[in-house]
Amino acid sequence: METASDLAIRLTKASRKKTWDVYNTFNWPEALEEGVWYMPPELISIYGTPAYEALTEEQQKKLSLYELGNFFSLVLQGERPLVAGLVDRLYAKGNSVSVNEYLHHFVDEENKHMVMFGEFCNRYIGKVYPEKKISLPKTYAKGEEEVAFYCKVMVVEELGDYYNLAIEKDERVDALVREVNKVHHIDEARHLAFGRVQLAELFAKYSPEWSPETLAGFREWLVAYLRASWGDYYNPAMYRDAGLADSYELRQMAMSHPAGAELRKKASAKVVNYFIKTGLLAEEPSL
Ligand SMILES: [Fe+2]
Ligand SMILES: [Fe+2]
Repeated sequence: METASDLAIRLTKASRKKTWDVYNTFNWPEALEEGVWYMPPELISIYGTPAYEALTEEQQKKLSLYELGNFFSLVLQGERPLVAGLVDRLYAKGNSVSVNEYLHHFVDEENKHMVMFGEFCNRYIGKVYPEKKISLPKTYAKGEEEVAFYCKVMVVEELGDYYNLAIEKDERVDALVREVNKVHHIDEARHLAFGRVQLAELFAKYSPEWSPETLAGFREWLVAYLRASWGDYYNPAMYRDAGLADSYELRQMAMSHPAGAELRKKASAKVVNYFIKTGLLAEEPSL
């Protein structure tokens, strides 16, 4: 199998060929198109529930804008620690030249994504939704923190990519919104390719030395992290901004409704299958 170090050479070439300027790629209009969708209705967090059916189409479309703003915000908020972690790993002992070169592109591209999502959210939502996750102090076995870092990267990027692809190809959605998702997806395809190989290598290197308790604890943490990541998609502030009442109850209802569980299962399938295939998870978790 191609090593992360070999793959990094190809990815660096591709990043240089496809380089883009975040300040000159988009023509941000004064206002977005009206009467269109900003996120496909099927991806809206309360889709398929009575609360969604009770809304007029106009309200549903308004909600789709705030759902998109929340989605862009949570990706941006996931990219912040990602960039911090990648910068920490630049020129680390044992890195090959090609991996360092690629990490520079990874950081550069994620920084541009944050600029792009931040610009969109500030212009059309009036804010970037703040980060919700809290990280608890933890002691790690050798290599565990490294493996956990790349797992977090995979979760934010794989879930985000499911939405990027669905939004990008949906003709009901505002053209600018589709373009932003497309631009993100193109860079993410490379990040995901690198992350998959890098994480599998790290897990294969370190996990044989972990005790059964460490591995079980790690898997518990990973499932909890996946669940917390999904929690961010049901943001009460987003419901409130879309003009919906009882936003906390709405979050609880949507998260426990079968329609929500079905969407989470579908959108998580790729990353969950990868975790099972590599041994990071032993079985499919209920999300
Ligand atoms: Fe990104
Ligand atoms: Fe990325």
